[in-house]
Amino acid sequence: MPSSTPISATSTPGDIEEYLAAHAHKGLLRFITCGSVDDGKSSLIGRLLHESKMIFEDQLETLEDDSKRVGTRGGELDYALVVDGLAAEREQGITIDVAYRFFSTDKRKFIVADTPGHEQYTRNMVTGASTADLAVILIDARKGVLTQTRRHSYLVALLGIRHVVVAVNKMDLVDYSQEAFAAIEAAYREFARQINLESITCIPVSAVAGDNVVARSTRTPWYSGPALLEHLETVPLADESAGAPFRMPVQWVNRPNAEFRGFAGMIASGSIRRGDAVRVLPSGRRSAVSRILVGDVDVEQAVAAQSVTLTLADEIDVSRGDVLSAADAPPAVANQFEATIVWMHDEPLLQGRAYLLKIGTKTVTATVAPIKYRVNVNTLEHLAAKKLELNDIGVCGIELSGAVAFEPYKDSRVLGGFILIDRLTNNTVGAGLLHFALRRSQNVHWQALDVNKTARAQLSHQKPCILWFTGLSGAGKSTIANLVEKRLFADGRHTYLLDGDNVRHGLNKDLGFTDEDRVENIRRVAEVARLMVDAGLIVLVSFISPFRSERRMARGLVQEGEFFEVFVDTSLQAAEARDVKGLYKKARRGELKNFTGIDSPYEAPETPEIRLDTALLEPEAAASQVIDHLRRAGIIDGLAGRGDSSWDI
Ligand code: ADX
Repeated sequence: MPSSTPISATSTPGDIEEYLAAHAHKGLLRFITCGSVDDGKSSLIGRLLHESKMIFEDQLETLEDDSKRVGTRGGELDYALVVDGLAAEREQGITIDVAYRFFSTDKRKFIVADTPGHEQYTRNMVTGASTADLAVILIDARKGVLTQTRRHSYLVALLGIRHVVVAVNKMDLVDYSQEAFAAIEAAYREFARQINLESITCIPVSAVAGDNVVARSTRTPWYSGPALLEHLETVPLADESAGAPFRMPVQWVNRPNAEFRGFAGMIASGSIRRGDAVRVLPSGRRSAVSRILVGDVDVEQAVAAQSVTLTLADEIDVSRGDVLSAADAPPAVANQFEATIVWMHDEPLLQGRAYLLKIGTKTVTATVAPIKYRVNVNTLEHLAAKKLELNDIGVCGIELSGAVAFEPYKDSRVLGGFILIDRLTNNTVGAGLLHFALRRSQNVHWQALDVNKTARAQLSHQKPCILWFTGLSGAGKSTIANLVEKRLFADGRHTYLLDGDNVRHGLNKDLGFTDEDRVENIRRVAEVARLMVDAGLIVLVSFISPFRSERRMARGLVQEGEFFEVFVDTSLQAAEARDVKGLYKKARRGELKNFTGIDSPYEAPETPEIRLDTALLEPEAAASQVIDHLRRAGIIDGLAGRGDSSWDI
């Protein structure tokens, strides 16, 4: 029966605290609902909430505010459990349309993540599902299993949600037909088998008429299973995180004064007692726990899902993003992985592009390559892909800028789940699940060489650097770069000019002009330029390089002060009027696709080191401006090298 002590949506934190204290003995089931408004999702949730007396309903904001106030009063463990789970999702930085609703019955408390069923559903589902124990998948009895049903189920399986309830809704509209229900159940189970979903319960319901939602219906005498709420109240809750080894990603280092240094975070799994030996990952250093604080109260022991501050017996290095773990059962550490990625953004994921990756509390730079395949969720086929579009699911290799502590997603949602963030906009653009570490980097070590960049550069009286010329086709990049190189060469400098048209005849002849090919084009030439900097050269790179993201990546490959972005700023009209190669005309006639400036974007630099306005500068003057800049930056000194020509050749 529903609870008789409801709390309204306007409850104060005090009410909620009392309420939760009174219900502290009850288990908590987190579930999500998948389906669209048309499937009757709103009516179903509405009926569940109404019949079971909703206790609290609001968006995360309110909850967080309340939790802070309650927290200072040493809030109940049970309450912390509810709120911290949500805070953790928030901490992941995903802003979405997920409404969390709370309700309870005499047997259990529930949190349902209500995710809108339209366009952005993968994003919303992934967020809502990240802590769910169960998913309710709605099927319209008149329509049966649809692509959407398969897609939702695939995601549910992927996210490791253990239990699935298939609510075959609108049974009233098919005259409570046992045959209709049985056919849908059979079709669903066949698909579920292929994606390894195991715990499935199919229930014939009518959300509108109320059949089998809260109580069993007399209109489906042929159905002997439980009503939906009954099932939600009794489905077994396995808390696997409690039995697993201790893990706590460090959220922040609390250092109010010289005497105290505590590491705060939420325990992801296992438990910890005072005196326990711990290891810090990825460094691997060991120590022992000297104090455990919950709020400002010292405790002997703490368990999964509690937020605590730990102090250690030794003064060892621990920073935000590190993972504290049981000393004898630490997680693995690696910097290359295979993972499943769910892409959530309108702009596709491009193989080879760098993103930020956040796992646990750590953020690193990540490059996705290669995309091994994309999954057709209808047929479960694996398709070749160089990019992932909105809502695509793909299996990829991922390379990180630094090693992280991790566990396969199937073992830990906290240390195996991650999000991808766009480096320029800071938007969350994807979510991922780690499978396993790739060994390729572990067997290839960096070889230290005695003749290094500094030694090579000294020999030629110059500091190596990259002059990265970017601009539209026909802007004058190659002309100016060529003049700059001639002058440097005449002055005895050691240089090399990498030109887009030329490199595309050799190293990059397999690449075209799609976004993903351009990303790869720039990745390769940036790596080559980096090697040339290491060889002590002044490298001139003349590529359209239309994307900010890749230019930024190139900059990141060399040290600070070694990269000069030279924006050859020519308007599209001017470049098109010049049209030296006749390519703009072809593009306008539609004979050349993806032409930069016409039907492919050019993202102008925002803060280039050097901007050359070709409407005002002749090529010679532009080249002089570059040379002057190099001299001011100390790349070339006043002394000429071995050459004896003057600047003005
Ligand atoms: S980039 O965008 O990938 O950096 P890159 O500099 O290598 O381009 O090559 C650009 C040159 O390729 C242009 O100067 C032009 O001569 C030629 N080209 C051929 N097709 C295209 C196209 N669709 N868009 C731009 N340039 C093209």
